Amino acid sequence: MSGYRIPFNKPGLVGHELSYIADAIQRGHSSGDGCYTSRCHELLRRELGCHRALLTTSCTHALEMCALLLDIQPGDEFIVPSFTFVSTANAFVLRGAKPVFVDIRSDTLNLDETLLEQCITPRTKAVVPVHYAGVGCEMDAITSVAGRFGVKVVEDNAHGLFARYKGKFLGTFGQLATQSFHETKNVICGEGGALIINDPAYVERAEIIREKGTNRSRFFRGEVDKYTWVDVGSSFLPSDLLAAFLLAQLEQYQEIRSTRQRIWQRYADGLSEWARDSGVFLPNIPSYVEQAYHMFYLLMPSLDVRARLIEHLKARSILAVFHYVPLHLSEMGMRFGGRPGAYPVTESVSDRLLRLPFYNDLSPDDQADVIDTIREFRC
Ligand SMILES: Cc1ncc(COP(=O)(O)O)c(C=O)c1O
Repeated sequence: MSGYRIPFNKPGLVGHELSYIADAIQRGHSSGDGCYTSRCHELLRRELGCHRALLTTSCTHALEMCALLLDIQPGDEFIVPSFTFVSTANAFVLRGAKPVFVDIRSDTLNLDETLLEQCITPRTKAVVPVHYAGVGCEMDAITSVAGRFGVKVVEDNAHGLFARYKGKFLGTFGQLATQSFHETKNVICGEGGALIINDPAYVERAEIIREKGTNRSRFFRGEVDKYTWVDVGSSFLPSDLLAAFLLAQLEQYQEIRSTRQRIWQRYADGLSEWARDSGVFLPNIPSYVEQAYHMFYLLMPSLDVRARLIEHLKARSILAVFHYVPLHLSEMGMRFGGRPGAYPVTESVSDRLLRLPFYNDLSPDDQADVIDTIREFRC
């Protein structure tokens, strides 16, 4: 967002983005599934150790592909935290399914796995845990409960590329997982995403759904002599120009991670004493989790104090933002029976969470300015 001396987000270049895009144009292949898309697929597959990775036009679209792949039908239910972005739920609602909301843990702000089993009914088809802020959900418990009831796990890993839970990459626990490369994420291409496939049974149909319901991918591999309409689908593949941008970013993912780790740590070191004295909570990272360093947030004592801190920062031209409106209290969520008070941790966190400026090019001086400005603030 422009107009602020220190914005909330500033998408930046980290390497060969512009030369790769120029090369993609010169190669004369700017539609989907060119050589840059293949290189992104291979890099993601190799680094994550997943069975297959497919670039999509967004994480939203990767989630919509998941709902199609799981054959979600009207009347089906899926379990989703109320504290998440709209797309986590909308992708399944588009297929006619009913969201069953679940509250989050007050420490990691992730789906509370102890509440999962009681949400399962004979209609439950999927659970969609969100690794909030790139901090892993309790995947041992979630995959165990889901497995016992034959419920599929789709990880919404929009925030958590290359983060780990107990040594294993997020996005490699569920049958399916999704990534986002939106300009606010760690690794970006403007708008973009990926579908991560861990169960090989979904690969062939995923290729078809992503290519307008045709078997074009098989045709290009020389496996069939013409391509045709074989299933439902849509146009979920990005231009190779965006893949060229993305590859340049993916190649630098370890450097991006180190940069963001330094920024995260400076916030934690600079604000811990102030937070303790002010009744403010900082992010809690379990010891067995390697986080993605996607964001740094404060949990303020109340909605009112948060509003005052936002104004205090704004007066110094620093933008801090909050999210999410609990899905169960949104206009759409209320139509599915959402009521105030139903998910108390979600409601409280939604009122109190504040995200601080966080981007790769945030200079130590600007960050010190943010920290000093916050330290001046009295709750
Ligand atoms: C948890 C979560 N899931 C999905 C999305 C959607 O991602 P995209 O913008 O790539 O569709 C977001 C967007 O920020 C998100 O925060």
